[in-house]
Amino acid sequence: MMTKSIPHGGELVQLFNPDYNIASIEAEIELDQTALSDLELIGTGAYSPLRGFLTQKDYNSVVKNIRLADGTVWSLPITLPVTEEKAAALQEGETALLVHDGIPYGVIDIEEIYQPDQQAEAQEVYRTTELAHPGVKKMFDRGSVYVGGPITLIRRIERKQFAEFYFDPAETRAIFEEKGWNKVVGFQTRNPVHRAHEYIQKTALETVDGLLLNPLVGETKSDDIPADVRMESYQVLLKEYYPKDRVKLAVFPAAMRYAGPREAIFHALVRKNYGCTHFIVGRDHAGVGSYYGTYDAQRIFDQFTEEEIGLTLLFFEHSFYCEKCGAMASAKTCPHDKEHHVILSGTKVREMLRAGEVPPATFSRKEVIEVLIRGLREKETV
Ligand code: ADX
Repeated sequence: MMTKSIPHGGELVQLFNPDYNIASIEAEIELDQTALSDLELIGTGAYSPLRGFLTQKDYNSVVKNIRLADGTVWSLPITLPVTEEKAAALQEGETALLVHDGIPYGVIDIEEIYQPDQQAEAQEVYRTTELAHPGVKKMFDRGSVYVGGPITLIRRIERKQFAEFYFDPAETRAIFEEKGWNKVVGFQTRNPVHRAHEYIQKTALETVDGLLLNPLVGETKSDDIPADVRMESYQVLLKEYYPKDRVKLAVFPAAMRYAGPREAIFHALVRKNYGCTHFIVGRDHAGVGSYYGTYDAQRIFDQFTEEEIGLTLLFFEHSFYCEKCGAMASAKTCPHDKEHHVILSGTKVREMLRAGEVPPATFSRKEVIEVLIRGLREKETV
């Protein structure tokens, strides 16, 4: 049976035009790392059907209803924030260069410059207005006026690290086709792949043709494991423990928002654009601290039809190694008491790694741990 993934909104958006003539454009907007990655992801179609940074009608609708104004499901406000001073120097109707570190990467036809209700955005999207939440803090820090309008991507970002793992949605789609994979499961992660991640990936892989291991490598909070160390750990894990012809490792260059349930929807839709037919949502997906309930990121999908989401969600319970079962398991498959379960929090593991302590092999593969300890040690001595 053929199961093909159709891009969100029906068509893969492609807005890259390196020949765009920018000679007469005077207005300029400086992009931070997040806006730069968003620009590129809009341009390559990873954010299809978006064709630019949200205008007010779409923004309000996304914040309140998790839909664009036309009703299409969309969960994160992809916005271009500027300061009030900058906003005063820009005009609706003009075209502005989108610049990072002095280099123009794109242009925006400014349709609207508007004042968002950021308290409401924080509450609706992040479910909290607390600045202790890294996504909320960043939202307030980035600027209080938003510029909306369609973009053109005029230059690709030069990749200094792991360039061979960057693929546009059109490319991953072609790769899946070439491999003959009809059903592809996408896996989002901002962490090393530990045994629980491996378990849910492989459980999914039992029923589909291929796995897109798609670690997020855009901006993350400072205590998350750096992307270059993670990339090395994924490669060693795949080499030792996964069949080569069933997995594609490709990076997802977006910034992490830590928006839990809202971000789970976004992560799923974007993976659909990359050509996935299935997507894994496990325990506390894209969560941080204790802002979200363990399965909130699964429950949020209840309010949409399967057609609206357009890919099959694979929900997983909190998984762990059970000493008594002698296997990976979850509450759905293991009858034993908690004392037999190997469960370590992310914070605890990071502490252990930084101290050079080795977590048990039932928690993480030894090859992965070796890479992480060495990688973190090298960073700390730089
Ligand atoms: S995330 O912020 O990218 O979601 P992480 O890399 O920890 O964080 O998780 C990647 C995916 O694995 C998410 O879908 C998450 O829900 C799932 N996951 C992580 N740990 C577990 C676990 N122990 N049991 C089940 N699912 C898990």
